[in-house]
Amino acid sequence: MKVAIIGGGPAGLYAAILLKKQRPSADITVHERNRADDTFGFGVVFSDATLDNFEKHDLPSYRRITQEFAYWDDIAVHFRGTVHRVGGNGFCGCSRQKLLLILQERARELGVVLHFEVDIEDESRFADADLVLIADGINSRFREKYVDHFQPKVDLRSNKFAWMGSTRSLDAFTFIFQETEWGPFIAHAYQYEAGHSTWIFETDPETFERAGLTGLNETQSAARMAGIFGWFLDGHKLLTNRSMWRNFPMIRSKRWVKDNMVLLGDAKASAHFSIGSGTKLAMEDAIALAEAMERAPSIQAALEVYEYGRREEVEKTQHAADVSLVWFEHVDRFWEFDPVQFAFGVMTRSKAITYDNLKLRAPDFVAEVEKSFARQVRSNGFDVNTDKPVVPLFQPFRLREMEIANRAVVSPMCMYSAKEGVPTDFHLVHYGSRAIGGAGLIFTEMTCVSRDARITPGCAGLWNDEQEAAWRRVVDFVHANSASKICLQLGHAGRKGATKLMWDGIDRPLDEGGWEVFSASPLPYFPDSQVPRELDRAGMNAVRDSFVAAAERGERCGFDMLELHCAHGYLLASFISPLTNTRSDDYGGSLANRLRFPLEVFEVLRAVWPKHKPMSVRISATDWADGGITGDDAVAIARAFAEAGVDLVDVSTGQTVRDAQPIYGRMFQTPFSDQVRNEARVATMCVGNITTADQANTILAAGRADLVALGRPHLVDPFFTMKAAAWYGADGAFCPPQYLPGKDQIFRNSVRDRLDLEELRIKAKPKTRAELKAEATKPLAAE
Ligand SMILES: Cc1cc2nc3c(=O)[nH]c(=O)nc-3n(C[C@H](O)[C@H](O)[C@H](O)COP(=O)(O)OP(=O)(O)OC[C@H]3O[C@@H](n4cnc5c(N)ncnc54)[C@H](O)[C@@H]3O)c2cc1C
Ligand SMILES: Cc1cc2nc3c(=O)[nH]c(=O)nc-3n(C[C@H](O)[C@H](O)[C@H](O)COP(=O)(O)O)c2cc1C
Repeated sequence: MKVAIIGGGPAGLYAAILLKKQRPSADITVHERNRADDTFGFGVVFSDATLDNFEKHDLPSYRRITQEFAYWDDIAVHFRGTVHRVGGNGFCGCSRQKLLLILQERARELGVVLHFEVDIEDESRFADADLVLIADGINSRFREKYVDHFQPKVDLRSNKFAWMGSTRSLDAFTFIFQETEWGPFIAHAYQYEAGHSTWIFETDPETFERAGLTGLNETQSAARMAGIFGWFLDGHKLLTNRSMWRNFPMIRSKRWVKDNMVLLGDAKASAHFSIGSGTKLAMEDAIALAEAMERAPSIQAALEVYEYGRREEVEKTQHAADVSLVWFEHVDRFWEFDPVQFAFGVMTRSKAITYDNLKLRAPDFVAEVEKSFARQVRSNGFDVNTDKPVVPLFQPFRLREMEIANRAVVSPMCMYSAKEGVPTDFHLVHYGSRAIGGAGLIFTEMTCVSRDARITPGCAGLWNDEQEAAWRRVVDFVHANSASKICLQLGHAGRKGATKLMWDGIDRPLDEGGWEVFSASPLPYFPDSQVPRELDRAGMNAVRDSFVAAAERGERCGFDMLELHCAHGYLLASFISPLTNTRSDDYGGSLANRLRFPLEVFEVLRAVWPKHKPMSVRISATDWADGGITGDDAVAIARAFAEAGVDLVDVSTGQTVRDAQPIYGRMFQTPFSDQVRNEARVATMCVGNITTADQANTILAAGRADLVALGRPHLVDPFFTMKAAAWYGADGAFCPPQYLPGKDQIFRNSVRDRLDLEELRIKAKPKTRAELKAEATKPLAAE
């Protein structure tokens, strides 16, 4: 078999090694345009898990790599004169040049032919090859040559960055967040061999301009960075090597394979440097390709296995990198944070590390985070313990005069079980049991303000006395039997009205018995949905008045809080999104115009809703669709509602249009809550695939939301909050007296279970290479 490889970077060389091991008789040649010992960049970084993978696939190169590596366990975050160190991270750094020399040496030993200083312009010279690997890096000539086939999407990120080096030794992966007269600069730095460290500098484009970096050459810009970070460089120089400032291109290619050509490494997909995964991804691509070649019956089949089998893993890493890079792009959002909360945000930015996880690894750090959180709560007038605080989820919160005992919230969820809009015994048991289960705040399902405001025939309403009495029964039960507060969510279905019960076909039009629906514009949801009537001013008045009447009934029921539903494509949301609002009057066009009617409704509600009771608004912070609402719009929307007196923005997303493309994942909507909270400076509640109390604590402690709503988890577990309280030992949590013996038991058992689990996790955790190395080099006498 003949294999031609274009590009002698980590992807090309490691693929050559693995394929040659597999097929010693194969003719494998690597073509590299640089000289053998040329390199750009300084050090590369691998996690322990990545090294485990290398160990499995090629022991000799693994051994040489690990002999050359610098190990560290800690991440250090420097911010506003403080430094927080978190251990247990298990990373290794090595010079990129040494890595390439090791891989070249190993490839040669195996019989791979390496050609240097050959710039491949045309792959036709490899016409006789069975397989052509395109490993020519981020600016891949061949990916661009066949751009129509590979269909790469290049997202050029806004921040500027440059790789440099230094002789400064470092004993931790170091992040330095530095305020300057021009704006914030960030250094990501790590040691890769004795006396050498990599320094990646990053800043936003405006700060870059203000700092006068445009037009400076490498030496001058290194001098500017040395000026900024000199206090830490401690007299050490910054080194340059093609250290030009650039914008990071996030690359995703639709196809990775063309005939017998296959893209590997940066050529096919890039991952932002802040998660240190570029070289890892490149080498793991080589592993995936070699594994596919081992198993598949033909080269073509192997390429398919590689493309389809590897994609998910690459996309997962890219998603983590995306989340991380966005955090760094918006670091100014957190600049006013308490440094320990800021450091917690750095550690948990890409969702891989959570509260419990950090508590295990760095208990002192998390204890400080807890104290800082409790101090903030105390400064808001709560008499909470700041020496031995409970976890953030069990810290109280206040909106106007409404105090809630914890930050776990039952998200609004339609039960589709009302009769002519009247809540039934099902609702009493449903809301009652979730209140007894301990949630601090319970939202009702979307409660419709009129008969034709219903989504389905099973939706609850609040437009007549019978409904009012039924809701009062629910509210009275909650107040009499729990410490929960209960919020009424009012909404109008708009064009998504007159549809079937969820379990009969969500959002599908009713076959019979439907009613006329309204929307901002006459656009049906599905092509075969009812075409809604465009709401005219008289219709708006009627809708507005029905909201007011329902709110007045809500007050009589005794609800503690009121939420206006402006999300998910329902009537008010249909005004806000440009995808559903094509009006040419004062209610269409600009965002200010599109917000006019929802704000008008909010304002009249605020006027009739008692001053001491809070109000929230639920928004879709993105439509997940081209031309729709974005996170930046959500900030503007939140600001507008905040000016109108909203106390909390309930940040959901999507459900506006059928062809939206949401990116699901754990806590997938939380970044929008983060953006709204920390840019619009308004309290937020986040929601969406948050399934554990650990995740809730992570979100709260990092300042990404003030409250955490859980929907589906509460459907199957009314006692989510009670169980979480037991787990975290928050024994002040409410429990009805009837259930106290059960509470005592679960609290006792949870302490034991928690200790057992922690012990198990500690035992199961493999030693990091740093720990192994420390053990191996420990003098015998010290044992
Ligand atoms: C300026 C810069 C500095 C970096 N520094 C670091 C760092 O310090 N640490 C780190 O972890 N990551 C660094 N990275 C990222 C990292 O290099 C990549 O993520 C990783 O190397 C990807 O491996 P690869 O094999 O896919 O591509 P590359 O390492 O880019 O290798 C591609 C190779 O193909 C060769 N090539 C390209 N076109 C042709 C052609 N037509 N003919 C022949 N040869 C060709 C190139 O010369 C190159 O050697 C840096 C990236 C850049 C752009
Ligand atoms: C059965 C069901 C009904 C829902 N009904 C409503 C509703 O009435 N009002 C609303 O704003 N959101 C509603 N939602 C959305 C939830 O409040 C929540 O935002 C969503 O389920 C994501 O959170 P989760 O991942 O915790 O379930 C509903 C969700 C479900 C699963």
